[in-house]
Amino acid sequence: MKKKKYLAAGAFLCAVSGLLCACGNTRPDLHSRIQVGVACYNQSDTFISELTDCFKEQLGLLENQGMTATVILKDAAGSQRTQDDQVKELIDEGCNVLCVNLVDRTDPSEIIDLARDHEVPIIFFNREPVAEDLMQWSGLYYVGADAEQSGVMQGELAADVIKADSRIDKDGDGKIQYVVLEGEAGHQDAIIRTEKVADTLKSQGIQLEKLSYGVANWNRAQAENRMTQMIGQHQNRIELVLANNDDMALGAIDAYTKLNITQSTFPVFFGIDGTEEGLKAVVDSKMAGTVYNDKEGQAEAMAKLAAALVSGEGMDEIPFEDEKFIYLPYEKITKDNAESFLDGRQEMTDGRKTQ
Ligand code: GAL
Repeated sequence: MKKKKYLAAGAFLCAVSGLLCACGNTRPDLHSRIQVGVACYNQSDTFISELTDCFKEQLGLLENQGMTATVILKDAAGSQRTQDDQVKELIDEGCNVLCVNLVDRTDPSEIIDLARDHEVPIIFFNREPVAEDLMQWSGLYYVGADAEQSGVMQGELAADVIKADSRIDKDGDGKIQYVVLEGEAGHQDAIIRTEKVADTLKSQGIQLEKLSYGVANWNRAQAENRMTQMIGQHQNRIELVLANNDDMALGAIDAYTKLNITQSTFPVFFGIDGTEEGLKAVVDSKMAGTVYNDKEGQAEAMAKLAAALVSGEGMDEIPFEDEKFIYLPYEKITKDNAESFLDGRQEMTDGRKTQ
């Protein structure tokens, strides 16, 4: 399925370069010189760093097709004020399209004003601004994924595993005692995933008892701390750990491992993202499952959209929702298919190298 997407990307890019050639203009002109400014909320976030790597690869593909693409990446390290300044710098440095991963998704006004004043379009990604803000100007777009779908899929994965193995209900009380590791407060993915995973488990007939939760800001070390505290409080009562992302699920596993708890008494762990480490943990049966957050698809959509916005060609081929939004679907990952996602990444990387 992913290969098809890449073929489609190739076809689109050929179309763009074909148009340039058809005009008798094989040299990059103003419109085929794409200078992308990428502003990230925090480059130490594993998923964001994997996503921006994919995006750079996608921009490299544009170059192979006769468009000149350069990228300047700035890391706000968690400060919206820093990001506002960085966006100004990116515009001053001549970027003709911006990709912005907001620090505070409720506070994009300064960035939007700057971009509109300089007529530089913005592709927001991963941290979704509220719809009202996106409506402020026609040059604003969003690329991401549907948070609800990821929560539902995580719930379905967990329900399947719980139904298939009665030993997960360690105390045999007919209820699954669980804890949640949440991402940042106020992040669309954290809020919706937390709600939907529990709703889905209940709708699948699983009786639940929530023992506790910890906010760990998508971060492995913070999750390890939170989990260590929760183990201290609830001892071996915890049967299920639902983490809003893979890094936090891995942090929870770190906590159990460092406390030297017997592995056969571990709860089951579920994450979301399918990062490289997350996929390996599923392959090794440390994590029972995860949900693939399609970074290749998101990176490809961002690159296509950036190219279309700068060249003025190909906008009608982009599958927008409500003319501004692009959402890539999630996929469920278990031990049965995790290896193929790891291999798939490798194949895609190799494929790109030989193009
Ligand atoms: C989520 C992802 C998290 C984290 C977050 C940052 O979509 O699952 O791991 O990267 O975005 O905004």
